[in-house]
Amino acid sequence: MQWLFDHTGKRYLDLFAGIVTVSVGHCHPKVTEAAKKQMERLWHTTNIYLHSPIHKYAEKLTSIMPGKLKVAFLTNSGSEANDLAMLMARLHTGNFDIISLRSGYHGASPYTLGITSHSSYKPGLANGFGCHTTMCPDVFRGIWGGSHCRDSPVQTMRTCSCSPGSCNAKDRYIEQLKDTLDTSTTRKLAAFIAEPIMGVGGAIQYPKNFLKEAYELIRERGGLCIADEVQTGFGRTGSHYWGFQTHDVMPDIVTMAKGIGNGFPMAAIVTTEEIADSFSKALYFNTFGGNPMACSVGSAVLDVIEEDGLQNNCALVGTHLLLELAKLRDKYEIVGDVRGKGLMIGVEMVKDKKTLQPLPADEMGLIWEECKDNGVLFGKGGLYNNTFRIKPPMCITKEDADFAIAVFEDALIKHKATISR
Ligand SMILES: Cc1ncc(COP(=O)(O)O)c(C=O)c1O
Ligand SMILES: *[C@@H]1O[C@H](CO)[C@@H](O)[C@H](O)[C@H]1NC(C)=O
Repeated sequence: MQWLFDHTGKRYLDLFAGIVTVSVGHCHPKVTEAAKKQMERLWHTTNIYLHSPIHKYAEKLTSIMPGKLKVAFLTNSGSEANDLAMLMARLHTGNFDIISLRSGYHGASPYTLGITSHSSYKPGLANGFGCHTTMCPDVFRGIWGGSHCRDSPVQTMRTCSCSPGSCNAKDRYIEQLKDTLDTSTTRKLAAFIAEPIMGVGGAIQYPKNFLKEAYELIRERGGLCIADEVQTGFGRTGSHYWGFQTHDVMPDIVTMAKGIGNGFPMAAIVTTEEIADSFSKALYFNTFGGNPMACSVGSAVLDVIEEDGLQNNCALVGTHLLLELAKLRDKYEIVGDVRGKGLMIGVEMVKDKKTLQPLPADEMGLIWEECKDNGVLFGKGGLYNNTFRIKPPMCITKEDADFAIAVFEDALIKHKATISR
């Protein structure tokens, strides 16, 4: 479930879940049972033959999607799902330009490299024709941010004088998006893609209503809106099943991967019938997409999320973790920001709260290794690798959270004693 064991049998609390992928728990008995049962029955036919797992799964998945999002395509990875979404948006609109947010990660395939916005992933070959990025609306490290911008139990330590219901930071970041549209695109768009909460980027949350207004600007220019739910989907944000619902927006295409299969390689996109129809201009074939093993596992994952009450657990344990981490932020100079929603959490580490310079890699490593040695595995991320990422299997308990907090605080104390500036 939430525990990993090393070669000596020592136990570790897994707060990173194979990069937000082991959604319901390592070797969850019900998912393992479903995989075993399918393995004994049928491994593979390709979807040119009918097999019941794919239909059962497509029906289950689309039944938990709102509105007109009723057609599913199954792929093997998140990159492949985003590739398909980009291609579909271009075919449907007849336009080419695609906008994504700086610091975002959407995959490393030749097509998605254009929308991934971390220079360390760019191999230095020409790619990403028609892809443009816009300023990341990061209310902690970005130019603008205030005291109630984000949808989280914890706000930044920034102040502002916005009246209730207005957000100056959101308005400024939207102006940046307008600027990008006016300067860098053909004014006719294929798509805008964004994660509801940035994953690899370091659990960055945008100001409330940013996505809503961004979607409007994109649609005015003929573009489709793509929600990349590879990390935020399947109940992880706690209050809603899908991350886009926390922004009160309705995407045209939703892409999903990672937690969809609890570690089994599978991914999906869900879209409307109209958009799916424009995709029939050419044949599309995918040997493994929607194979019986993946679909049986995927069905069991959806059942377990329901039966084990995991969405609610994300809200309860996630909120507890966030509030406890916020206490550490108030107490330790190097804990710059605590943010997130449900069990999609980031802790951004800084040299000091005045300059907000990223905590250097060696000091990040020291804290990270200390926590590992004491039995807790954190993830790392962010453009400057200075954000601890907490995205555990959604079954962790409040007791696990308290254990993690204690181990993390011990590491902060040890850091303070070791490093002098
Ligand atoms: C938000 C997001 N989209 C897409 C991807 C790409 O998924 P995959 O690694 O399965 O190709 C990732 C992977 O980290 C991701 O975090
Ligand atoms: C972050 O880590 C990656 C992988 O280790 C590395 O390639 C990259 O240069 C680092 N980025 C920064 C800003 O240090």
